[in-house]
Amino acid sequence: MTIKLEKIVPWGRNLDEYISMFDLTPEEKKFKIIDCAAGPSSFNYEMTFERYNVISCDPIYKFNADEISQRIQATSQNIIDQIKANYDTFVWQNLQSPENLLKVRMAAMEKFLLDFPNGFQEKRYLTAELPKLPFDNHRFDLALCSHFLFLYSEHLSA
Ligand SMILES: C[S@@+](CC[C@H](N)C(=O)[O-])C[C@H]1O[C@@H](n2cnc3c(N)ncnc32)[C@H](O)[C@@H]1O
Repeated sequence: MTIKLEKIVPWGRNLDEYISMFDLTPEEKKFKIIDCAAGPSSFNYEMTFERYNVISCDPIYKFNADEISQRIQATSQNIIDQIKANYDTFVWQNLQSPENLLKVRMAAMEKFLLDFPNGFQEKRYLTAELPKLPFDNHRFDLALCSHFLFLYSEHLSA
């Protein structure tokens, strides 16, 4: 699939959110982890900072940090407007409000943007996409995939 810059809508979560979503234990954090469809999440940055081992894959990594940042600026308010329009369909237990959600997402994506140029050089961020990834079998102990499979189910078969 060839993705175009003007089509991407970057949106990324942080390490605490990944820990809650996947119920990650301290032992599992030590695994060799692949985060597929990682987007502009700060999971890789925060895990690397804590000296864990994560490789993130996403087709948007073909763009540079400035290009991804430009799309974040162009699209984030629209996402929040849509969330506000569908306010009652969300559970606001953790993030409390659309304004706070935006603040938390932007903080995660800013961390990603700062880390991305170095991380790309270090091959912690790889431009790759499902259904085929460029890794040998048994390369990882744990594969994480957040906010992709159901969102993109029209594009990929089971
Ligand atoms: C909603 S974001 C989720 C980002 C991150 N996992 C999180 O939860 O914060 C979905 C991501 O899936 C990526 N994506 C789209 N098609 C993909 C594919 N075929 N393989 C892997 N990732 C893909 C998009 O570029 C986007 O960054």
